Amino acid sequence: MDWLEAVERAGVIPVAMLESEEEAWFLAGALEEAGLPIIEVAFRTAAAAAVIRYLRRGWPALCVGAGTVLTPAQAEQAFQAGACFIVSPGLDEGLAARCQSLRIPWIPGVATPTEIMVALRLGLTVLKFFPAEAMGGTKTLSALMPLFPDVRFIPTGGITSRNLADYLKLPNVLACGGTWLG
Ligand code: 3PG
Repeated sequence: MDWLEAVERAGVIPVAMLESEEEAWFLAGALEEAGLPIIEVAFRTAAAAAVIRYLRRGWPALCVGAGTVLTPAQAEQAFQAGACFIVSPGLDEGLAARCQSLRIPWIPGVATPTEIMVALRLGLTVLKFFPAEAMGGTKTLSALMPLFPDVRFIPTGGITSRNLADYLKLPNVLACGGTWLG
């Protein structure tokens, strides 16, 4: 399954901080049980790349992305480990160039119209809205809608089962990300 299809189908991207293959094994089982085809493994633990490789080998149908990718070197590591997509908290032209040359989908974080305009200039239309709740949540996303009709957002940061439905109702929201599911 293509990453965008997996994102759309799931409506959510669980974000997980995993310390070991054992933790990944438990998570993969839980995802299978929940029928979720996608996971974002955050580069916030030393084991992130190894865990991505482990999940890709053991669960080839699972769409495994790398999150919290801050540098081109981490993007390279994620790609080598078999990640299907890369997520960053912000927008960085060096990272954009590296992901483009690796031909791996990159979802940068944006929070302002200026950042969205830079992303559009780089040819990116699927963007992480981060940190969603702190940046005005659904109110901000609604205000951005008429200005950027081609952009589809993945709000992340402060999303829980309590406010998820409010986000998913918005036409410019593709899916929501968060640790509450991980
Ligand atoms: C991320 O890594 O994308 C965010 O830290 C997730 O934010 P949350 O913990 O509020 O869901």
